[in-house]
Amino acid sequence: MADEVVHREQWGSRIGLILAMAGNAVGLGNFLRFPVQATENGGGTFMIPYFIAFLLVGIPLMWIEWGVGRHGGERGHGSTPGMLEALWHHPVAKYLGVLGLFMPIIVLIYYCYIESWTLAWTFFSLTGATQGLDEAGMRAFFGSYVNLQNGTVHGFWTPFIFFFITIAVNFWVVSHGLTRGIERLAKIGMPLLFIFAAILVVRVLTLGDQTVMVNGVATTSSPLAGLDFMYSPDWSKLTDPSVWLAATGQIFFTLSVGMGSLAAYASYLRKTDDIALSGIATAATNETAEVVLGGSLAIPAVVAFFGVSGAVAIASGGSFDLGFIAMPLVFNQLPGGAIIQSAAGFMWFGLLFFAGITSSVAMSTPVLSFVEENWGWTRKQTAWTLGAIAVAIGILHIVYNTRGFLDEWDYWAGTFGLVVLALVETVLFVWVFGPEKMWAELHHGAQIRIPRFYKFILTYVTPTFLIIMMLWWFKEDALPTLLMADETPERSVVRWASRGVMLVILVLQLLLIRAAWKRRRLAGKEVA
Ligand code: ALA
Repeated sequence: MADEVVHREQWGSRIGLILAMAGNAVGLGNFLRFPVQATENGGGTFMIPYFIAFLLVGIPLMWIEWGVGRHGGERGHGSTPGMLEALWHHPVAKYLGVLGLFMPIIVLIYYCYIESWTLAWTFFSLTGATQGLDEAGMRAFFGSYVNLQNGTVHGFWTPFIFFFITIAVNFWVVSHGLTRGIERLAKIGMPLLFIFAAILVVRVLTLGDQTVMVNGVATTSSPLAGLDFMYSPDWSKLTDPSVWLAATGQIFFTLSVGMGSLAAYASYLRKTDDIALSGIATAATNETAEVVLGGSLAIPAVVAFFGVSGAVAIASGGSFDLGFIAMPLVFNQLPGGAIIQSAAGFMWFGLLFFAGITSSVAMSTPVLSFVEENWGWTRKQTAWTLGAIAVAIGILHIVYNTRGFLDEWDYWAGTFGLVVLALVETVLFVWVFGPEKMWAELHHGAQIRIPRFYKFILTYVTPTFLIIMMLWWFKEDALPTLLMADETPERSVVRWASRGVMLVILVLQLLLIRAAWKRRRLAGKEVA
């Protein structure tokens, strides 16, 4: 589209916008993914590449996505095909923009599935279903839920029911539109999330010394030992490429950059709305939630009751074991009886649910905007249609979860794909649109001046960092993942099938973009 300015729906209030943007970023990644990533990748040492990635790519990409989104939104585009074309008037631009439809929809579907676990466990906490279970019992309880073939504890339909409810709530919220749906959810969900997290952090950090049995020997542990364990530096890890990849991957996932959803939210800004300060405020809120709250919860709590070796053993299965097995075991040991234990579980899983849903509604926004803007559907129509599609595809995750279906999507869309879209957005906004115009765009309506050295960072350092990371990532990680070395034949089949489904979705989205631009041309709208 040429530089025609189009009037679209806008955020109702600045606080609503900041909360929605922060809700977009603060998610399951802050409370489940971060502690495990930090622990597994050198503890305190992990925080060095983590903060370098935050400063050199996290904050710049936050500004870039806000800038790309607001610039596209003014021209009537709520998703990246149109946004990228508004930056680069070339027929290829819109097809590159498919990444900003593909990534969020792929992540949305499996993310909602995991979000549905948090809803289920919020319910189980209230009913006391996990109270009194020992580690074996807790593993069986979780294992039976996430693996349909294992009906030892849960009925076959239980995971489906919670998934349907989760999808229904998500799309019910977005069906109410920007201000009455998403903004209202953020205004309720974000404060509740922070209150629950703050209460739990205080409870965890004041647990004091606990007597734990390690290999049959009574020893003392505490939440501070957990913090020490989590952050004690392992300097040898600093030269390990995989630690840098993990830290950068965490920054991408936690800030939701390279997903298309921040740009979609930013498309509803006014030209005079601030980007510079709001972008920083969003990133800072996310980091507070992640490092201060996320870092002070799960690992310290589990170490306090099970000691370092016990925590490592329980959480060896990763984020989900930590969140859904280790944490309920911790709650079972809290002093104060069943009500306190239920309340703690309710707050933990409740905060995860709110963290999740404020992110997943954002992931649905690019596709919703794309369909509305090009086919003239109402928000209700698009929301419920997309909800039905998400249910249909999500069923595959429920059925094939333990055989690698979800891991494949998480890797290609939720990890590697984010860097690819981020690189495309950066190159187009900074280099093709041009550094001067980019800098001016970021300062329209700005309430602060971005320090000048950031112009250099945005122009040279961020793109270089992204290119190096992407090539390195491809060699170290993506290629072995693609080739599926050491995979069992049964899982290989499922993983190939899961790639096939992703490919079908990608091709369909490319065809939709082509169809949309054809409609525009027929309607006499100017296209590049
Ligand atoms: N940024 C979201 C999270 O951390 C996706 O979970």
